[in-house]
Amino acid sequence: MELPRALRQAVDAALEGVPARDLAAASDALSQRYRAELRDGRFHVADDLAARAYLAARLPATYAAIRAALDAITGVRPEFSPRRLLDFGAGPGTALWATGDCWPDLAAATLIEASASMRKFGAEFAPQSGVAKIEWRTEVPNVGTHDLVTLAYVLDELDAAQRADLVRQLWSRTGDTLLIVEPGTPAGTRRILDVRDLLLKQGAHMIAPCPHRSACPLVAPDWCHFSRRVARSRVHLQAKGADVPWEDEKFSYLAVSRNSGSLPDARVIAPPRGGSGKVELKLCNSDGTARTALITRREGDRYKKAKRLDWGNAF
Ligand SMILES: C[S@@+](CC[C@H](N)C(=O)[O-])C[C@H]1O[C@@H](n2cnc3c(N)ncnc32)[C@H](O)[C@@H]1O
Repeated sequence: MELPRALRQAVDAALEGVPARDLAAASDALSQRYRAELRDGRFHVADDLAARAYLAARLPATYAAIRAALDAITGVRPEFSPRRLLDFGAGPGTALWATGDCWPDLAAATLIEASASMRKFGAEFAPQSGVAKIEWRTEVPNVGTHDLVTLAYVLDELDAAQRADLVRQLWSRTGDTLLIVEPGTPAGTRRILDVRDLLLKQGAHMIAPCPHRSACPLVAPDWCHFSRRVARSRVHLQAKGADVPWEDEKFSYLAVSRNSGSLPDARVIAPPRGGSGKVELKLCNSDGTARTALITRREGDRYKKAKRLDWGNAF
């Protein structure tokens, strides 16, 4: 998955002239803070160089994860087309761009971001997103609801009590759908499962990825996560000191709504394994179970459909 062209050009312009060595060092420092899930009261992105490192090293991947989760929402609620977005922890506006790409009718966005450096780049890029009305704030507005509320890669920066308070607050501002995305690590998935419990208890309808409201059937060391392949630009390769021209971004997510959707029979929760005349799919099923299904050519249309499926798809 690639960034929209206007965003890619804006990022390239923001990175122009930054010495590769400085970007790589800042990117390394940022990765270490994220990996350690450091909560020391400081912003991970505390200055412009750190924000530029985020643009080079993280934005393409978080964009791909959010965009993939939005696709899953459209699969369950094809009629949903948000006009108003609220994004908490907006960073450089990642969810704004992904939402505008998924639903070009998006008309207004309220973006909450505490880091001045992130806001600076986000506000510079946002006018090119095609969304007419964009407002940047540091706090969630006290009134009003938004069709879509997003919270991507933020929960890991908060402690458990702050997470629950924030999710309750964001749900109260959700007119239709709330999407939460986290890194696809066991800890990220644990945070998603905690807020899933909280939101289902508040009466939210499950949209994705789970095709049911029962407890998650996966047992540790297994955990529910998905993956998106992201092309690495030259500057991304330099920032990460990498050779491979792509990376696989692992992510976990939860989409819930005030309105019900048409949940699939199952969702593919691991990379499919193909063989001659057969395909093996690890499925999370609408009855709340997870198991691996072997689907053979003898099953005709079901096999043809199964063969085309990828990790994360509905079945
Ligand atoms: C990892 S970045 C994610 C940015 C964007 N959502 C994305 O997916 O690319 C997390 C962002 O949340 C912001 N953030 C964390 N706590 C916040 C708070 N209490 N209020 C506003 N922004 C916050 C951080 O400054 C940072 O820019």
